[in-house]
Amino acid sequence: MENITIIGAGTMGNGIAHAFAQKNYNVTIVDISNENLDRAIATITKNLDRMVTKEKITNEEKINTLKKITTTTDFDSGVKESDLVVEAATENIDLKLKIFKDLDSICKDDTILATNTSSISITQIANKTNRKDKVIGMHFMNPVPIMKLVEVIRGKETSDEVTNLIMTLSRKLDKIPVEVNDAPGFVANRILMPMINEAIHTLNENVSDVEGIDTVMILGMSHPMGPLHLADFIGLDVCLSILEVMYDGFKDEKYKACSLLVDMVNNNTLGIKTGQGFYDYSEGPRNKKVAAQFRK
Ligand SMILES: NC(=O)c1ccc[n+]([C@@H]2O[C@H](COP(=O)([O-])OP(=O)(O)OC[C@H]3O[C@@H](n4cnc5c(N)ncnc54)[C@H](O)[C@@H]3O)[C@@H](O)[C@H]2O)c1
Repeated sequence: MENITIIGAGTMGNGIAHAFAQKNYNVTIVDISNENLDRAIATITKNLDRMVTKEKITNEEKINTLKKITTTTDFDSGVKESDLVVEAATENIDLKLKIFKDLDSICKDDTILATNTSSISITQIANKTNRKDKVIGMHFMNPVPIMKLVEVIRGKETSDEVTNLIMTLSRKLDKIPVEVNDAPGFVANRILMPMINEAIHTLNENVSDVEGIDTVMILGMSHPMGPLHLADFIGLDVCLSILEVMYDGFKDEKYKACSLLVDMVNNNTLGIKTGQGFYDYSEGPRNKKVAAQFRK
């Protein structure tokens, strides 16, 4: 594998592009927005600069990594020479189904089509293609250049060969892959999202404030980051979409999103990416609570 295309230049897309480019793969990022593509390159540059400062990579490695990345808004030219496509577009089922149908008709016959979806069925996505054996979940964690885990999700018809290839490729990126089966939310979000949702209920019911809830989970459970801060980091819209997929998939009330989360998303208060979530990031790192205004 040499040519990797990433669909989507958002939080995850830029991190996945960074991880592949740093290992010398030719990376093309495709997005519908030039502004998002520019922002992705700026973020990758900033993250590489930080790695140079911390002496984790040399300046030459930084320059070489950036040289391996190209960007385009032209979907067809961005995917047609690709050996592997990793789709990391917005978590919306109709969008992903359309992207995979298009990928199947434009990509080479042997191109592997992976999705970074957090929750949507790999089997359902694969069913939109004529290569169900070559469709797989490759679920990176945020921030991709730092987090070691890749959840590798087999659809119903994903072949052993493709699964083994993606497991090996993940290791080449210095990641640790874990193979899981296809179910709403897979393993990571099946367990994480109910906890985040419960933290939001706890806040909404005024059991404690944002910092109180996060501090209990950091100091009491040895979590490196509180659930509300983590939700800001993931993106509140992404959290809501994942909960909706799990609620739909399991038809179980326990996955129903808290009304506070829905209100915040409707208000475009999406976490770090919009500068405000449970914390305020407008002046850099989080510095004050903002969620109180949304409480009942
Ligand atoms: N945010 C996280 O922590 C996280 C972690 C793991 C997995 N994921 C998953 O990764 C995927 C991307 O999430 P994100 O947080 O990066 O989202 P994001 O909102 O930050 O970025 C999504 C990007 O997709 C682009 N896009 C939308 N439609 C497109 C199309 N038709 N073609 C090309 N690009 C298109 C948007 O312009 C945007 O730049 C989702 O499936 C999400 O569930 C997110």
